[in-house]
This record gives sequence, C-alpha cells and structure tokens, in this order.
Amino acid sequence: MKEPLVLGIESSCDETGVGIVRGTRLLANTVSSSMDEHVRFGGVIPEIASRAHLDAIVPTLTEALDTAGVTLEEVDALAVTSGPGLAGALMVGVCAAKALAVATDKPLYAINHLVAHVGVGLLDGGVYGGALPEDLGALLVSGGHTEILRVRNIASDVELLGSTIDDAAGEAYDKVARLLGLGYPGGPAIDRLAKEGDPRAFRFPRGLTQPKYMGSAEVPGPHRYDWSFSGLKTAVARCVEQHEAAGKPVPVADIAASFQEAVVDVVTSKAILACREHGLRNLLLGGGVAANSRLRDLTAERCAAAGISLAVPPFSLCTDNGAMVAALAARVIMDGRSPSELSFAPDSSLPVTTVSA
Ligand code: KG4
Ligand code: ZN
Repeated sequence: MKEPLVLGIESSCDETGVGIVRGTRLLANTVSSSMDEHVRFGGVIPEIASRAHLDAIVPTLTEALDTAGVTLEEVDALAVTSGPGLAGALMVGVCAAKALAVATDKPLYAINHLVAHVGVGLLDGGVYGGALPEDLGALLVSGGHTEILRVRNIASDVELLGSTIDDAAGEAYDKVARLLGLGYPGGPAIDRLAKEGDPRAFRFPRGLTQPKYMGSAEVPGPHRYDWSFSGLKTAVARCVEQHEAAGKPVPVADIAASFQEAVVDVVTSKAILACREHGLRNLLLGGGVAANSRLRDLTAERCAAAGISLAVPPFSLCTDNGAMVAALAARVIMDGRSPSELSFAPDSSLPVTTVSA
C-alpha cells in the first residue's frame, strides 16, 4: 500500500484521540480530554478516565472523519494504542478499534504508545519534514512517562535507554503543586509561579546522580540514564513542613522555582548523557511537560553545547493524540508489516521493543 489512509485511536490515559493520516500527511487530530473531571482529585483517576473514553470515543471519531473529509469506508487501515498505559482506559480504545475492524472488515494495527510519540516526527512539514534522522534519541516527559529512547528504525528497532523508577516528571509536578496548594494540573501552575521565584533558594535532590566508584575509578551505575523523583517530592514536603512548624510563611515561589530547577536539571542532564554515550546526534522532545518553558530552554542550551540537534513538535502533537498512532501505523504498513491478530490484548506495561504487536 503506497500511501495508506490510516485512522488511529489513542486512549491510554485521559485523552481520547482520533487522528487520520494519508501516508505521512496529517488530515485530522481530534482530542477530547477528561482532565477537568480529575481536577478535584489532583490526578488522573483511572475509572473516571475509562468512562470518559466511553462517552467520547464515538463523537471524537465522527469529528475526526469530518475534519479529514473522509468516510470510514475510505479508510485503508485502523490503528490503536495497545499499551503502555492505564489498563481500563486502553481497553476502551482497543475494544472500539476491534469493533470497527470487525464491522468494516479493515486491518487493525496494535501500536506502542511510547514509540507513537516519536511517530509525530514522521509527518510532512513537521519537525523532520517527513523522514526521521538516523541516530535519533527521544525524550518523553509527561504525567505518565519520563523516558529516553534510542530509535534506530521506528518501525522495528527501538530501545529504552532510561526511564523513571518511580513517579513520572509530570506526576511529580502535580504532587508538588498539591503540596504547595496550587491547582491541578500542577505543571502549568508551577511553571508560571517559578518565574517569580529563585531557582537557587533551595538545593533539592537530583535523584540517582551519585556516581558509583570502584576503588577510585567512576563506574557506570545501574541507573545511569534512569530518573527518580520520589526523594525530590519528599524533600519539598519537608521544606514546607519546616516552614510551617517554625510559623514562617512558606516561600511558595522559591520552592516552585527550586523544585522545577531540580527536575529540569536532572531530566536534561541524563537525557543528554544517554545521547552522547550512544552517539545520538538528534533529540526529539515529547509529552505534556514539553510545554514547560524552563525544560525547553535548558534542553535547547545543553543540546547546543553537546552538538545535538533538538526538535520540539507543536504542543498538540507532544501531548497524547491519535495522529501519532496513525502516523506510526502508516509507517509500519508502508514497511510491509502484517496487521495484528484481532485476539491481541491491551498491555499496560508493553515494552518499547514491541512497536506493533
Ligand atoms: O502528555 P500529557 O498531557 O498527558 C499525561 O501524561 O497525562 O501530560 C500532562 C502532564 C501533567 O502532569 C502536567 O502537569 C504536565 O504534563 N504539564 C506541565 C506543563 N504543562 C503540562 N509540566 C510542567 N510545565 C508545564 N508548563
Ligand atoms: Zn503519552
């Protein structure tokens, strides 16, 4: 199939996304988010997200088809995120995609969500103008992930170089925002407030950065490219408690700025270390935290210093969406891969090595 018309469905977290591409051309990217329904809980509640996907899937599908100006009959293939993500949320998208595949007798491709984030780079006129560079690293930072990937061939050869061992960076933003009495989602609130604070006011921990030594020689530790944000979150909680116990006002802006500096410092330094040590000359930034002004600035600064070319897609393609699923599936189809068996199951911890199940 030369330029397949592909419809992609995404439902791994709180965004119901339907995207439509023709080969590498983006025709529609419709997203419905249930974020407002999670605000009073300060984080995504899986059951609420699943129900919201059920309500949103058909209207989102209809709107995407209208926007693209195509009918379901004209679509050549369907694609859906099969993992990783929230089990119940994934189930809704996967069941919808299977139902469509059975009803229309069209091939269905099960797609890896993390690799799909990199798939936005395949789109015409996008950050890479249609073809991914060789030696590509991808830094994904959102409420659900913090990962650095090595992409040799997006359709068949992707490797996880590092990831968080506890909270995702966006999750840390959301939890710290809650500690500071800011709203949900916490990222934008902290990003804004940090501009008024001093990032050097507090030296919060950068997790997993202590070098390991053998005798006097530094040796690569087991978590060289991994992150941990739970200690940072605890340090912020202690700092707030200490001010409260001493009857002093909590310096919220300074804490926000210092927390943000700790996150952004450790995220960028480890990602760039991984790129340098693997000869990756290009880095794609993705995920909701890619909206963060300090993360963008420091990543750009450190990439430039390391001779790495940085690409940041438009925000609507950085956050979870169906277009990235369709774009990756189109590549997989153009590479001649077979569709998935309809018996596949969503896998909440699908490894990046499985690009398409
Ligand atoms: O990709 P995304 O929309 O979906 C999930 O992973 O759920 O990312 C949402 C995350 C939230 O944790 C939010 O706090 C964070 O991205 N975020 C930000 C900013 N805007 C959104 N974090 C830091 N700075 C921002 N400006
Ligand atoms: Zn995502």
